[in-house]
Amino acid sequence: MILISPSLLSADWSCFGEEVTALEKAGADWIHVDVMDGHFVPNITFGSRLVKAIRPFTTRPLDVHLMIAPVDPYIEAFVEAGADILTLHPEAGFHPHRSLQHIRKLGLKAGLALNPGTPVQMLEPLLEEVDLILVMTVNPGFGGQTFLDSQLPKIEAVRKMIDYKGLDILLEVDGGITAETAKKSREAGAHVLVSGTSIFKDGPQSYAKNIQSLR
Ligand code: DX5
Ligand code: ZN
Repeated sequence: MILISPSLLSADWSCFGEEVTALEKAGADWIHVDVMDGHFVPNITFGSRLVKAIRPFTTRPLDVHLMIAPVDPYIEAFVEAGADILTLHPEAGFHPHRSLQHIRKLGLKAGLALNPGTPVQMLEPLLEEVDLILVMTVNPGFGGQTFLDSQLPKIEAVRKMIDYKGLDILLEVDGGITAETAKKSREAGAHVLVSGTSIFKDGPQSYAKNIQSLR
């Protein structure tokens, strides 16, 4: 099973609703929303209002990647806006365990994202509280960067950890995903692929073909 989660970072920002409709038609499994604050990462994008605005345009899960610090004060707003998955970085607050518990308590899936510089050991004490692990294969902040092969052993290590403990956790990768790096990521054990550049290139008429080529 492979799930494709196109990142709206690379969409046409003048018409997010239409873009989401086009992605769903093209076979997207989830919609990935990259929230950036210009503080945790060196770029600013959008907040919960965008999630609320696109919610009526799709029945697909909204996979919200929070690159904001602090993260806790904004969790409820994203829940109310209609997100399905909220993924945070462990460095985005003093108590990631509590933040993950909070997300789950509000009825959403809780995700934890590991930056290229964040060790896999960070996960161990949090594993029981996560539904999804996101391994970043670029430094967060921008689309269009080159996939870091150095992160493949981390994907493998996370896969082993999940399987060894028999946990029901989704393993997602994000950053520089192309047909070639999708294959490497899959072989390393990931089965949810986030992609911006590779899906949005050549406009809406190519979304289905681009999603298919990643699959
Ligand atoms: C980067 C974001 C990614 C980004 C991926 O901080 O988390 O989701 O949009 O874009 P590509 O596929 O272009 O690397
Ligand atoms: Zn992302």
